[in-house]
Amino acid sequence: MHIDNATILWNQPLGSSCYRIGITTSAQYAYATPGQFVMLRLPNQTDPLLRRPFSIHRLIESENGILQGIEILVKVVGRITSSLSFCQPGDTVDILGPLGHGFSVPPDCSRIFMAAGGIGVAPILFLATSLFKKQFDLSRCILFLGGRSKADILCEADFFALNLPVTITTDDGSMGDQCLITHPLELCAREQRPDIILACGPSGMLACVAGIAESLNIPCQISLETAMACGMGACLGCAVKGKSPDVRRLHACLDGPVMDSRQIDFLH
Ligand SMILES: Cc1cc2nc3c(=O)[nH]c(=O)nc-3n(C[C@H](O)[C@H](O)[C@H](O)COP(=O)(O)OP(=O)(O)OC[C@H]3O[C@@H](n4cnc5c(N)ncnc54)[C@H](O)[C@@H]3O)c2cc1C
Ligand code: FES
Repeated sequence: MHIDNATILWNQPLGSSCYRIGITTSAQYAYATPGQFVMLRLPNQTDPLLRRPFSIHRLIESENGILQGIEILVKVVGRITSSLSFCQPGDTVDILGPLGHGFSVPPDCSRIFMAAGGIGVAPILFLATSLFKKQFDLSRCILFLGGRSKADILCEADFFALNLPVTITTDDGSMGDQCLITHPLELCAREQRPDIILACGPSGMLACVAGIAESLNIPCQISLETAMACGMGACLGCAVKGKSPDVRRLHACLDGPVMDSRQIDFLH
């Protein structure tokens, strides 16, 4: 884990309030795994003082595979995300990472269901790209991509380019079927039983995905989007309740953000 004063390479608007931001990083990000994140803030900014967590969305590599940096996908919701949306190439950011535990796909898995809600698509593209690079046959997998409306459905063309079938739903029916993404996920999981489900999105969606996986006895890993102040286990602000009496509290930053869904008590 490193603190870098990194340079913005590009800032591309994507949809109405999202931005793809390329950032230079140290060489050790070449070993980052999908689901790991960075804590980021603008230098010399004192309000807010604390860095914010962002998933690694893509590794930026030269044609001969040398790491140039990472890309993050930012949805504007508040102060730091708003400041980031105005960043220009050449500006600097203060970045700490790579942090946390990413997704871990067991070697015997051949059919993976991935589920992404809203900005939860950010680490899922890194995941799909990394499987593709390992020559994993993504045509046997499905990505369930959900959002409130069409503007929240991001990166679908990137997934098509990886030969990954995509099922889309929106809450308002402006793209794909009008329902929650967990609806087609459950139907398909019953019919085509995946070896594992990997998901990232809002907590309500993750609780539902975890419930589906548990009822069908399918292994499931979820990436939590819990608010984080330090990202390193120091503030205890990212605690979630564990299911096991031995592990009453888990920390999304250190124990996750990707965890086995059976570890988490979603009812509290
Ligand atoms: C591991 C992890 C990975 C993440 N990856 C991404 C990513 O790739 N792209 C992305 O855009 N966002 C991501 N997030 C969420 C992102 O960290 C927050 O949107 C960001 O901290 C908001 O900062 P801000 O200063 O703009 O907002 P603030 O001014 O701090 O807050 C604005 C509003 O957003 C709410 N908010 C703050 N943090 C969160 C959160 N984690 N979840 C829900 N609401 C929140 C606040 O309660 C407030 O209502 C991730 C979060 C985690 C924990
Ligand atoms: S964010 Fe501080 S302990 Fe997890």
